[in-house]
Amino acid sequence: MRNKVTVVGSGNVGATAAHWLASKELADVVLIDIIEGVPQGKGLDLLQAMPIEKRDSFAIGTNDYADTANSDIVIITAGIPRKPGMSRDDLLNTNFKIMSDVVGKVVQYSPNCILIVVSNPLDAMAQAAYKLSGFSRNRVIGMAGILDSARFRAFIAMELKVSVENVTAFVLGGHGDTMVPLPRYSTVAGIPITELLDQATIDRLVQRTRDGGAEIVKYLKTGSAYYAPSAAAVEMVEAILKDKKKIVPCAAYLEGEYGIKGLYVGVPCKLGANGIEKIIEIKLTPDEQAALQKSADSVKELVGVIGV
Ligand code: NAI
Ligand code: 2OP
Repeated sequence: MRNKVTVVGSGNVGATAAHWLASKELADVVLIDIIEGVPQGKGLDLLQAMPIEKRDSFAIGTNDYADTANSDIVIITAGIPRKPGMSRDDLLNTNFKIMSDVVGKVVQYSPNCILIVVSNPLDAMAQAAYKLSGFSRNRVIGMAGILDSARFRAFIAMELKVSVENVTAFVLGGHGDTMVPLPRYSTVAGIPITELLDQATIDRLVQRTRDGGAEIVKYLKTGSAYYAPSAAAVEMVEAILKDKKKIVPCAAYLEGEYGIKGLYVGVPCKLGANGIEKIIEIKLTPDEQAALQKSADSVKELVGVIGV
């Protein structure tokens, strides 16, 4: 049976996610948006690329949730992106209203789906989707850690002039200025970067990772990053649809793990057919634990404002 993935929001991240999904032949894709015509046009365009790409993925765009019925996975990218000078947190109230509109309709038509939330501020929007959907926590997952660690990996690979394939990296915490890149758990061919780079270089790469989204917003001026964010969301889709049991950093609802309760925060998760199948607890130093707690506190402040 063919898999079906709906992408809500046919803007930069949504349309690019649809592109990766179809070109990897992972699923038939439905793009949905409130804007009339845009998802239909992008869906049809994508469909017409398939003979060239030699892929049998079907793609459509729509404004009608009936077309999304019985999706296996729904990626939510609906919302406004930030502009120069804005933080992700400035998007809170607008995107919460959009999330409230979207999640009810998604759940009505795809009651058994797994939700991957992308809209910002990410951890608060994932928490909103979790509460609004009534789904179990394994089925509502926030995308941020794969993106943040991919940025860290790219910077490490450039610095050491090695293949990106050799580099693994871990970034925990909320998707914001308080995110927690973990150099001790970031490696090149298995060697921790703490043995390959001096502290000043590591600090510079960590800071560039923290500022990774803002660096791109500054260049684009009218929006934010979308190639890497959409690729990250699609890596999560692939892990779930192929039941890969892949361990990747995702925003998950913590119920006491890492000493945090009742909050979405980025942690290592095992992704498989059931969504988050396990939250992996790694040993943190007191400094790392304090940084994670600080990051969780800033997520808590945001979810307090929208009351979820
Ligand atoms: P965009 O502006 O290009 O696209 C957003 C789309 O959402 C628009 O087409 C808009 O019409 C649609 N939309 C608005 N309200 C809707 C509703 N009620 N129902 C359906 N569609 C609706 O923005 P872009 O660049 O695609 O970013 C989308 C969101 O993803 C932003 O909030 C952005 O901050 C976030 N983001 C999160 C990342 C992460 O790491 N978690 C990375 C990159 C972006
Ligand atoms: C990013 O990190 C905007 O959250 C988005 O690029």
